[in-house]
Amino acid sequence: MSLQNGNKMTDPNQASHRKQRLVVLISGRGSNLQALLDASQTDPSFPATVVGVLSNVPDAYGLERARQAGVPTVTVESRLYKGNRMAFEDAMLAAIAPWQPDIVCLAGFMRILTPHFIDACGGRVINIHPSLLPKHKGVDTHARAIEAGDAEAGCTVHWVVPEMDSGEIIVQRRVPIFADDTADSLAARVLVEEHKAYPEAIRKIAGALN
Ligand code: GRF
Repeated sequence: MSLQNGNKMTDPNQASHRKQRLVVLISGRGSNLQALLDASQTDPSFPATVVGVLSNVPDAYGLERARQAGVPTVTVESRLYKGNRMAFEDAMLAAIAPWQPDIVCLAGFMRILTPHFIDACGGRVINIHPSLLPKHKGVDTHARAIEAGDAEAGCTVHWVVPEMDSGEIIVQRRVPIFADDTADSLAARVLVEEHKAYPEAIRKIAGALN
């Protein structure tokens, strides 16, 4: 792997011109992947390029999005590795290594990664989560935000550490919660912000990683 040096931020003004190589891990729809593809393919100033997409689910729609964008894909089916997380992670590491990722981006990737995977990536793994962390870690975030009577919800892009949804925050974006919101209406409002937050997070960390 080309990943190295952990996620220590250096001087953010020390921007380099080399584009960061993003490998995106997905399990489904892939709308956040699409936001990264769009940013990297339509904005010449975007400091990164998506060089590969891995799915743990063979029919994930995000794979189709990648193909349409001309980005190589690979599937490592988690189903085939039940009870052997280490072998699953080794298979993923072997699959993405040829792409020489600088940053591994989890985008709706529904598997928890162990320190084995995170360390092999030099700590350069980030995730998007649909809540204002540290609130509402885990699943069903929108229903839980409404149930809790929160006035606002949002999304968080953060560094991945072994403890779920707990790493250092890179970017958060907020939306109001309205009285008549359902989990679905709130999810749709948050998703719009997710698609801005992920490219924003890449911009924020890219220069410092060179
Ligand atoms: C997003 O809400 C993301 O925050 C969460 O899973 C969802 C994935 O959506 N982790 P998509 O596959 O990117 O469309």
